Formats: sequence, structure tokens, C-alpha cells
Amino acid sequence: MNWQPETICVQGSYRPKSGEARVLPIVQSTTFYYDDPDVMADLFDLKSDGPFYTRLGNPTSSQFEGKINLLEGGVGALAVSSGQSASLFAILNICQSGDHVLASGKLYGGTFNLFNVSLRRLGIEFSFIDPDADLNTIMAEARPNTRLIFAETLANPVLSVLDFEKFSAAAEQLGVPLMIDNTLATPCLCRPIDHGAHIIIHSATKYIDGHATSVGGVLIDSGLFDWTKGHYPELTEPDDSYHGLRFTEAFGPAAFIARARACLLRDYGCTPSPFNSFLFHLGLETLHLRMERHSTNALKLAEFLNDHPAVDWVRYPGLPGDPAYVLAKKYLPNGQSGILSFGIKGGAAAGRDLARHLELVASVIHLGDLRTSILHPASTTHRQLTETQQIECGISPEMIRVSTGLEHIDDIINDFDKALRSV
Ligand SMILES: Cc1ncc(COP(=O)(O)O)c(C=O)c1O
Repeated sequence: MNWQPETICVQGSYRPKSGEARVLPIVQSTTFYYDDPDVMADLFDLKSDGPFYTRLGNPTSSQFEGKINLLEGGVGALAVSSGQSASLFAILNICQSGDHVLASGKLYGGTFNLFNVSLRRLGIEFSFIDPDADLNTIMAEARPNTRLIFAETLANPVLSVLDFEKFSAAAEQLGVPLMIDNTLATPCLCRPIDHGAHIIIHSATKYIDGHATSVGGVLIDSGLFDWTKGHYPELTEPDDSYHGLRFTEAFGPAAFIARARACLLRDYGCTPSPFNSFLFHLGLETLHLRMERHSTNALKLAEFLNDHPAVDWVRYPGLPGDPAYVLAKKYLPNGQSGILSFGIKGGAAAGRDLARHLELVASVIHLGDLRTSILHPASTTHRQLTETQQIECGISPEMIRVSTGLEHIDDIINDFDKALRSV
């Protein structure tokens, strides 16, 4: 099957047989019946593939996994209960206490906290690097126990674009996998595997759902990293909980995703509900169209704000002159997604005030759905930090983040224009 991404969005993965439902069914069942106990035993021993208990897999979730896997170009995917659990599993699948991770310092705040606080408490070490630093500077942060590099394609909220060439060169030189959070770009705008990434994660809560209905996440394995050449005992050494099975021997290139399901989903239980998987699968069916419109609307809004007298600065990777413009042309040539940020004149007070004057656009803690929304990080998500700490995270007091939706662009622009004039 050699379909274009648009066709995969609409028809990839779920293909009904004669007499079956045309639309992916929701299999709302915790458990699955087999008439032969030996079949069940083989499922438990990972000798065959099939659902037996929804914590470890479900037919609806597996169709969502199948579609996103085709879109990203992987060998397997695992749906989980949130973007946070996708990042957690990505790390825990190959790291234990005493291991070290090189992570971009430009990350979603929740991911930063997961790494810097919660996973550090478990004994995993993290170094946060400036993704704009040169290769030698990045390499200087590596240690003998470095197990992976982690970064975002399009960083939330600072909107820098990852230099994949540099980061994949660093991963190659270190002999470690490059893990990418592709939430803001989606596979419709960028396929990190084509640029040297090995493991992809998403918060499906954002553009994959696209309608702000469900929290979920997913991991995709490129199958391109050779775990046997590095120090990855979780995958290469016998696993006591599966009678001494070695994941690399039993599953070859799909070892990473097989272990994430068989061990992490089994033990930690961060399972998505079948209904949410149905909604994510439904969201993927229109992702190509939505990302196109999110991107064109965001570019027009960025251009409008850039010329507005009440606006100090605008950041959108598709805007000529933006610091991320050159990398965006290289890695996001067909659209730069729907997120932009701008600085309103008048500082934090004006930023807070703007929300009161917008009518169509709502102030919400979310991004990536079809309704245009704003967030004033300094007075909401980052309000517990001091101004100096906020600036270290790339948050200035006047900064407004916009998630540009799918309404008519004239209505979006008029709403901003009216509100900006009233502040
Ligand atoms: C880039 C990115 N990664 C991960 C997450 C975490 O996802 P979730 O909220 O689904 O746990 C978010 C949430 O905003 C995000 O923006």
C-alpha cells in the first residue's frame, strides 16, 4: 500500500471486510473471548498477537495506532492515556536509575517538569541543552551513560523549529536514539523519521483529536535504531516477566514498541479508553485538511498582527524574518501549524486585559483544536514563576500565545483588531 498521506488519513489502517461496519467500530469491552485456552496462553507469552484485556490492547485503539503509524512511517505504535504518559513511556522504556538523557531546553512545560522533577526523583539524570547551540556544544553535554536525545519538532511555546540535521548527527555520533515530540507539527506537516528521528511521541489531545474532546497520547517506533549496538538491557537482556524473552530477538526492529506495550502498559496501566481512540482515529481522518487551514490562517493572522500598532513583536515560523523561518522552510515546507505568539504593547496588564475584549476568541488552557484560542502564560500557566524564571522559559510578561482555529480568517482578524484597539 503506497498511499499519499491524505489517503492514509481518510482510509489508512481500518479496512472493513464484507459485511463489517464501514466506520471503525468502538469495541467497548475490557476482555476478549477465546475458545481454546492454548490460544490465550500464546497471547500471554507474546507468541501471538491479539487482544485479551483492554489494558494491554484493544481493537479500536489498534486501528488508531495503525493509522498514526502509517502517517509517521513507523513499524509500530502504542496508544496511551495522555501526551504525558507517551513522554514517560518513551523514557522509561530504555532508561533506569543512573542513566542520562540529553533534552532540548525548549520543551512544553509539562514535559520539562516530568523530566526535571519526577524522573530525576527516580534517579534518571537530565541535561537541558540549547537546541540552537552548535553540534560541538551539544556533544559536550553528553556522558557515557547518555541513552537518548529528546526534542520537539516545533517547540511549545517558544515556536523554534528543530534542526534535525544537527540533532540526528549528534544522536548518530553518540549511538543513541533521537526521540521527537511531534505534537505541534503532526505528520501532515513534518515526518521526523524522514529526518533521522527514531521514536516519535504525540499528545493526541491536540491536533490529532482536533476538537478538544479527549486527552490521549501515542508513541511510534521507526524500527530504525539498532538496540543491540548500545547499552539497552531492557530490550536486549532476558526479561524475567516473560520467561527470559529478549525483546530484540523476539520482535526485531519492533522491539521498542513491543516492550512498551508488554511491560509498561501492563505495569503502569496508562491505557486509553476505546472511545477516545475512536475519536483520535476520527480526528486523523481530517488531519491533512485541518493542518493546511490552521497553517494558512495562522500565517495571515501573523501578518496582520505584525503590522498592528498595538503589537510589539510576532513569532510565527512561517513569517519571513522570524528566527525559525529558514528551518521552517526546510522541515515544514507545506505549512507551519496553527500556533503563533505575539507581544502586546503595555506588558502583562495589557496581556491580561486582551482576553476580556475578545468575543470570538476564548482564553483557554489548550491548543490545537478547531476554535481559535489564546493563552496569556504569565498570568495563567506560568504565574507561579517569578518574572526572571518566566523569561528563562521564554515567557515574557506581554506574551500571548494564539492557537489559530478554522473559523473564517476575516472573523478571527476582526476580533483581534477590535480587542487590541480596546486594550
Ligand atoms: C508539545 C506537547 N507535548 C506533550 C504535551 C502533554 O500532553 P497531554 O496534555 O495530552 O498529556 C503537551 C500538552 O500541552 C504538549 O503541548
